Amino acid sequence: MKILVTGGTGTVGSAVVRELMARKGDVQVLTRDKSKGGQLPQGVTAVEGNLQEVSTVRRVFDGVDKVFLLNAVSPTESSEAHMAITAMRRAGVKHVTYLSVHEADKAAWLPHFWAKVGIEEGLKASGIPYTILRPNNFYQNDYWFKDVILQHGVYPQPLGDAGVSRVDVRDIAEAAAIALTTPGHEGQTYNLIGPEEMTGTNTAAAWSRVLGRPITYAGDDLDAWEKQSLQYLPDWMVFDFRMMYQHFQESGLQASTEDTARQTKLLGHAPRAFDAFAAETAGSWQ
Ligand SMILES: NC(=O)c1ccc[n+]([C@@H]2O[C@H](COP(=O)([O-])OP(=O)(O)OC[C@H]3O[C@@H](n4cnc5c(N)ncnc54)[C@H](OP(=O)(O)O)[C@@H]3O)[C@@H](O)[C@H]2O)c1
Repeated sequence: MKILVTGGTGTVGSAVVRELMARKGDVQVLTRDKSKGGQLPQGVTAVEGNLQEVSTVRRVFDGVDKVFLLNAVSPTESSEAHMAITAMRRAGVKHVTYLSVHEADKAAWLPHFWAKVGIEEGLKASGIPYTILRPNNFYQNDYWFKDVILQHGVYPQPLGDAGVSRVDVRDIAEAAAIALTTPGHEGQTYNLIGPEEMTGTNTAAAWSRVLGRPITYAGDDLDAWEKQSLQYLPDWMVFDFRMMYQHFQESGLQASTEDTARQTKLLGHAPRAFDAFAAETAGSWQ
């Protein structure tokens, strides 16, 4: 059974590839840069292509049984995904596991949440058997903040204090591999979450504990966050993420008890805790 992973060189997709290989999958990874093939686990084939291009979507799904579909946040996210869905339908792909976002429909005004809502609808209408994974904010986003945490003692992600049930990417990857390799997940949507409601303050406190020195939350000031972020991110992304953080600060993004129960049943273990992730990461940073 041939499985194509899009985004397989990125944060989630590379973890999905590891989980599929642990289950002896026949795995291909789509990448725009074939030289990244050398970094893939042994036995994984790199397929060069760009989901923005018709020539790619006409070719890469031929002979593929199942697809892990991940679309990077970009102004062309929707069209990339819908071109892929149309092409997968034509190629006779038997199952798609799609990476969406937790409660995307409840904040559908956000450009990259709305993209997910439309893509989910397109997938459901396509007739291709599907599973949708809706993860919360990733613990692994904190890798981006390594320098500011270690060098300035500051935690910068403006999560607010309403509570966000952040998730470990390894739980997402396990869920994807289970959906792709075992029966019973067709037509299912799984919210993927962590065990705690994380805030800016309690995330900073967790980093303080594991690093053994004070890490201070940078606070909820989104004007300051935007000014800083525009130095290294494109303006459309800063706009979109600023509005997402405003949503987190106003409403949070919390798991329900049902989300936790379903995820625990799916994975066969409780959601991984942030403290364990942070302790492991701090160990690798020091
Ligand atoms: N960060 C969070 O907290 C969070 C939470 C929930 C959902 N999400 C969703 O997760 C997704 C991002 O996942 P990630 O963080 O794992 O991504 P990532 O690490 O940024 O990696 C992006 C991947 O997409 C591939 N890619 C980008 N543009 C492409 C194109 N035009 N054609 C083919 N491949 C392309 C890249 O491959 P190459 O560079 O090798 O071509 C790379 O493998 C987004 O949809 C985001 O909304 C994120």
